Amino acid sequence: MALYMKGAEILEKAANKQGALKTLVYDSKFGNIKQLFALVCETQKFSAILEEIIESTRLLKQTKLRMPLAKVLVYDLLLGQGLKCGGSWKAVIMKHRSRLQAALARMKVKQKVSKNDDLLPDCVKRPAADQLPRYVRVNTLKTTVEDVVDYMKRDGLFYLGQASRLDDLTLKTKEFMRDIHLPELLVFAPKTDFHDHFLYKAGHIILQDKASCLPAYLLNPAPGSHVIDACAAPGNKSSHLAAIMKNKGRLFAFDLDAKRLATMSTLLLRTGISCQQLANQDFLKVDPDSPQYKDVEYILLDPSCSGSGMVCLQEDTSSVDQEKIQARLASLASFQLKCLNHGLSFPQLKRLVYSTCSVHSQENEEVVTACLQQNPGFRLVPVLPQWPERGLEPLTQCLRASITKTRTHGFFVALLEKQSDTGNKEQEPVLQKSSSRCQKRPAAPDESEASELEDTQTPTTGQADGTPAKRKRKRKKKKKKKQMKEAME
Ligand SMILES: C[S@@+](CC[C@H](N)C(=O)[O-])C[C@H]1O[C@@H](n2cnc3c(N)ncnc32)[C@H](O)[C@@H]1O
Repeated sequence: MALYMKGAEILEKAANKQGALKTLVYDSKFGNIKQLFALVCETQKFSAILEEIIESTRLLKQTKLRMPLAKVLVYDLLLGQGLKCGGSWKAVIMKHRSRLQAALARMKVKQKVSKNDDLLPDCVKRPAADQLPRYVRVNTLKTTVEDVVDYMKRDGLFYLGQASRLDDLTLKTKEFMRDIHLPELLVFAPKTDFHDHFLYKAGHIILQDKASCLPAYLLNPAPGSHVIDACAAPGNKSSHLAAIMKNKGRLFAFDLDAKRLATMSTLLLRTGISCQQLANQDFLKVDPDSPQYKDVEYILLDPSCSGSGMVCLQEDTSSVDQEKIQARLASLASFQLKCLNHGLSFPQLKRLVYSTCSVHSQENEEVVTACLQQNPGFRLVPVLPQWPERGLEPLTQCLRASITKTRTHGFFVALLEKQSDTGNKEQEPVLQKSSSRCQKRPAAPDESEASELEDTQTPTTGQADGTPAKRKRKRKKKKKKKQMKEAME
């Protein structure tokens, strides 16, 4: 029974994007990890088919089961081991066995196939995720790239040096390299598993897709600076930001989801981050005029998105109601634009990086275009000229990523900068050559006392209406509106 409950819990977390399946399984501390992993992977693989069977038999209504648990139970009954365990739920499901079996048989007849696997679409039969390299970000707060390379070599892996072309990243088992674009990234063969590795457990390495390392790398906040991670959990990008900041300064990290924040605090603890201040708070309600954010110069905004770029979440949407998809995208885009506009309203902001793991232009280029029209004081910074996949025309300053062109999950990144700061070249790691390292910055005073984990609401110390700061902001807004109107005319 515990196996099915845990499996269902993990599938639900993965669907809510609380982490990758593999990581969630390994972090679950379940007694038989291999058994659990096989169950959730296979259930996920057959997810659409199981859902159809469950819906056509009205199983949820008749049993009061929730979808994730129903899926694992029906998977094991029809396609897996045949419900060897399961306690009281087993008895419930067994009552519906013949109807469930009949639904599966009907599906096969309809699709003219004899094997269960033949029901799967081609892209699922050979999952693209299995072809992605395993990317490992070295946590420079705890170790160095050189030390990790040495450790891996002593562990029996073969180091092939620095990659110089994307094709170099096609690695065989046990081979590894340094990445071509990102200095703190090591690349291993697909499916190399580090979840049980000492360096992972000790927080020296972080298992993070290359594309998801781009936002913090491009934002490149100076040590000592004040930074916001607006939608932060489960925290990989926050931990990357803290490493770039050398744990100096303040990292205000917000997230609406308390559970995801709890996962995040465990990750940050393991990775030795101490400059963070976590808050279970809606970023849209964070007051830009609050004195505690008066020095915020950098914002990383990685808001909720459709997740359509995540290779393992890609599904055959041909049968899904297109109207529903478009409505969901429109609602996500409206939320993303609100977050962007809110981020740009922080008075001292110099740079904001916006990212999604979506492939849809509605969530990417269209959001950024609308935002620039509404905030003429900001411009797009052309980033990483050597990166092979650019934003859709005319937003070629932005980056896109994909399994075919960059050997990563699908991703989008835009870097926005306040116009008056464009002369400040010291802030631009983005124009460096591929082999260069993050730029050194003058050391700022250590402000790491701001490290207390706060999973309660951040107190809003906003000023009352009519303060000089508010009036100044109102004037600014009015001016912006006027500029906008002029631009439109
Ligand atoms: C794509 S995930 C962020 C991933 C994270 N940046 C990382 O790298 O680990 C989006 C997050 O935004 C959070 N979120 C959604 N709406 C929010 C809001 N209004 N304010 C703060 N967080 C929000 C979600 O709970 C979710 O954790």
